Amino acid sequence: MDYYDDLDESDTELQYRHGISLAEEALRVFPEILAASVSLQRQITTAAEISPELLKKIALIIDTNLAAFYVARDGPRWMDLKLVEMKEAGLVYVYYTPPTDPDQIACFLSFLITYESGVKVLYLYEVHVLQQFQGKRLGARLLAGLHQLATDLQQNGGALYNPVGTALTVFSDNTKAFAWYKKEKYILSPGSPQDKRLRSGKLRKPEYYIMVRLNQARFT
Ligand SMILES: CC(C)(COP(=O)(O)OP(=O)(O)OC[C@H]1O[C@@H](n2cnc3c(N)ncnc32)[C@H](O)[C@@H]1OP(=O)(O)O)[C@@H](O)C(=O)NCCC(=O)NCCS
Repeated sequence: MDYYDDLDESDTELQYRHGISLAEEALRVFPEILAASVSLQRQITTAAEISPELLKKIALIIDTNLAAFYVARDGPRWMDLKLVEMKEAGLVYVYYTPPTDPDQIACFLSFLITYESGVKVLYLYEVHVLQQFQGKRLGARLLAGLHQLATDLQQNGGALYNPVGTALTVFSDNTKAFAWYKKEKYILSPGSPQDKRLRSGKLRKPEYYIMVRLNQARFT
């Protein structure tokens, strides 16, 4: 792997190159085939290379799975913001397609290296499974790949790619995903918005939480 200068998130060109290096590492970690009802085939791309067609397909999955949450937070034009975020320099997309229909995306995740609460992490931007493929442990296997990648990078990635773990944002009302992440050893980041106890005694949840998971120690 080529290493460039240290992480500088204001340098878009550099961030794109980091994305390409990270994609090379992801190739080593995410399996080529994920067996579900069919054998899904791995594809990897980066924000620097993603085609408008692929971007649209991925956006449609996000829309199908989570539009209600996004509309509540960002209003009806939420997708405009999301499309900009999806092109963020440094992002890597790992997605899986059925062999008979390489145009269909069964599941995907996207991530980049960044800082959360002052420490370097592998940040999960999205993880989605198409509704008809949900409940087949595809999400679990994507998340396991992300955790493995973070651990490998910390052990072998050199000074630049040494995330202490993974991080993500989850809508507080997405109770299924929130419970799932907690089970996967995620905890609230010190930088996360927190629940507030109102004077009435009621608990007010923030719109979203930031969660972090430290790489698991090698010899435990
Ligand atoms: C969250 C998501 C990625 C999980 O992927 P998945 O492939 O359906 O989930 P898996 O089959 O890998 O199951 C993961 C765990 O969730 C549990 N689970 C699956 N479907 C569930 C449901 N409907 N309700 C509660 N738990 C459920 C499984 O039992 C499993 O638990 P286990 O690890 O103890 O076996 C998927 O449901 C999804 O795309 N949801 C919409 C998008 C989303 O919310 N993404 C996260 C944004 S932060």
